[in-house]
Amino acid sequence: MPLDLKEIITTRLGENYQLHEKHVNRTLARVQQTIGFDKVYATAKGAYLYDMDGQPYLDFLSGYSVFNIGRNHPAVAKAIRDVLDLDLPNMVQMDCSLLSGLLAEALVKKLPPHLDAVFFANSGTEANEGALKFARAATGRPRLLSLESAFHGLSLGALSLMGCESFQEGFGPFLPGCDQRIEMGDLATLEKELAKGDVAGFVFEPVQGKGVKFPDGDFFKKAQELCRKHGTLFIADEVQTGLGRTGKWFGFQQWDLEPDIITIAKSLSGGYVPVAAIVARRAVYQGTFSRLDRCVVHSTTFGRNNLAMACGLATLQVIEDEGLVENAARMGGLLLEKLNTLKAKHPFIKEVRGKGLMVAIEFQEPKELRLRMGWQLLQKVDKNLFTQMVVTSLLTRHRILSQVAGHNLFVLKILPPLIIGEKEIDQFVNALDAVMNECRKFPGPLWDLGMRFFKSSLSFAR
Ligand SMILES: Cc1ncc(COP(=O)(O)O)c(C=O)c1O
Repeated sequence: MPLDLKEIITTRLGENYQLHEKHVNRTLARVQQTIGFDKVYATAKGAYLYDMDGQPYLDFLSGYSVFNIGRNHPAVAKAIRDVLDLDLPNMVQMDCSLLSGLLAEALVKKLPPHLDAVFFANSGTEANEGALKFARAATGRPRLLSLESAFHGLSLGALSLMGCESFQEGFGPFLPGCDQRIEMGDLATLEKELAKGDVAGFVFEPVQGKGVKFPDGDFFKKAQELCRKHGTLFIADEVQTGLGRTGKWFGFQQWDLEPDIITIAKSLSGGYVPVAAIVARRAVYQGTFSRLDRCVVHSTTFGRNNLAMACGLATLQVIEDEGLVENAARMGGLLLEKLNTLKAKHPFIKEVRGKGLMVAIEFQEPKELRLRMGWQLLQKVDKNLFTQMVVTSLLTRHRILSQVAGHNLFVLKILPPLIIGEKEIDQFVNALDAVMNECRKFPGPLWDLGMRFFKSSLSFAR
C-alpha cells in the first residue's frame, strides 16, 4: 500500500514535540517548550503560518531567510510538479543536465560579468566549504581570514572561520591557518595579515547575520583593494544577504564591491528543495578543476538535482516578476522609519539598524532605576534573556515570529519575507510598541516571564 501522507499528517499532527523529544533533538524541543515556541503549525502561505485552529502567525523569521518569496509560492510548486510530470532523467552525474545549465545562466545574468562560473551545492555551509577550497586551489596559499562575529556555517571548515566562540566549544581543533579574526573596520590588522602573502581568501558577510552588523563608510571597499594588492581572493558570503534580502539583488552591491567568489543558498530554494551555489571568476573556478583528471575533484552527489534546479529557476523568476528586490528596499526603509519613531519613545531601544528587510533592534539598560533592576537581574544569568523575553512576548501575545540575533547580544532580529506590505509592518511595529510598554511595568507579567527563563537557566540564542 503506498504511503498516505495526507492521512498520516491529519491523524498525527500534534505529536510533533513528543516525537522530537523521543527521537530527534530533545534539547531543542525542550528549549522551544521553555520559551513558548512549542507551537504546532498546520499550514503556511505567503508571510503567515497557521496553527491547528487556523490562527495566523506573522513570519518575521522566514526560516532564517529561506522564505524571501513567502511560503508555498504556487510558481515554485508548479515548477516542481512540471519536473515530476516530465519524468526527467535526474542526477545521471556523467552528463550535463539542462536545468543546472539554465539555473547557472539565470544566476550569472543577475551578477556582474566577471562572476560567470557556477558550482551547485546543497547548503550554505557546503557552498562556503567549496569556496574555501576554491580559494586555496586558485592561490596555492593556506590561510583564510574572516571577521569577528562571522557566521559561515557549522561544518569544520566553515566553523574554523567562526566569529562567535560559543559555536566552537567542544569541536576543536580547527583548520590550521584559519584562526585570525579581523575586527570590522580594522584595516591596519587586515593589511598586516595580508602582507604576509599567505592568505588565500578573506571571507565576509555583506551584512552579518549575527547582530545584523555592517561597517560604516568604506571598510569593505578598502578591504577589497587590500586583497587585490596582496593577491588574496575577496569572498562574499551571500547565503543570507543574497537574492534581494538587503534591498539589492546581492549584499555586495550595497558597497559597490567586486568579489572574486560569492556563495548563495537559503532563499534560492524557494523554501522547497535545498540548493546552494558558488559563483566565481572563471579563472578562480578553473584553479580547482585544473586538469581533466580533476574534473570532479570537488563535487557532491545531489548538487545539480533537477528539483533543486527547478526551484532555483522559479524563485529567481518570482523575485523578478514580483519586484521583490525593490519591495525589500521600500519596505525596509519604511520599517526603519517607523522603528526609529519607537526608539524615540522607549528607553530600552538603543539602536535600530538594517539594510532592506534584514533589520535589528538593539536594546540597552534603561536609565530609570526601577527598570535597571529588572534588566540587571536578567543580565546576571544570561545576556540573551531580555531579548528572549521580548521575542517570546511577540510570539505568544502578538503571534509574530522573530529571533534573538546571537549569543551575548541585546539584539532582536527580523527577516520578513520580501513580499510584505505596510499592513505587516504596522502589525509588527504596533506589537513591539505594546511589548515595550509592558517592559516598563517592573515588576510585572513580562518580567515574570524573564524570571521563568532565569529559573530554567538556559541559553536560547541560535
Ligand atoms: C551568512 C551565512 N552563511 C552560511 C550559513 C550556513 O548555511 P546553511 O545553514 O544552509 O548551511 C548561514 C546560515 O544561517 C548564514 O547565515
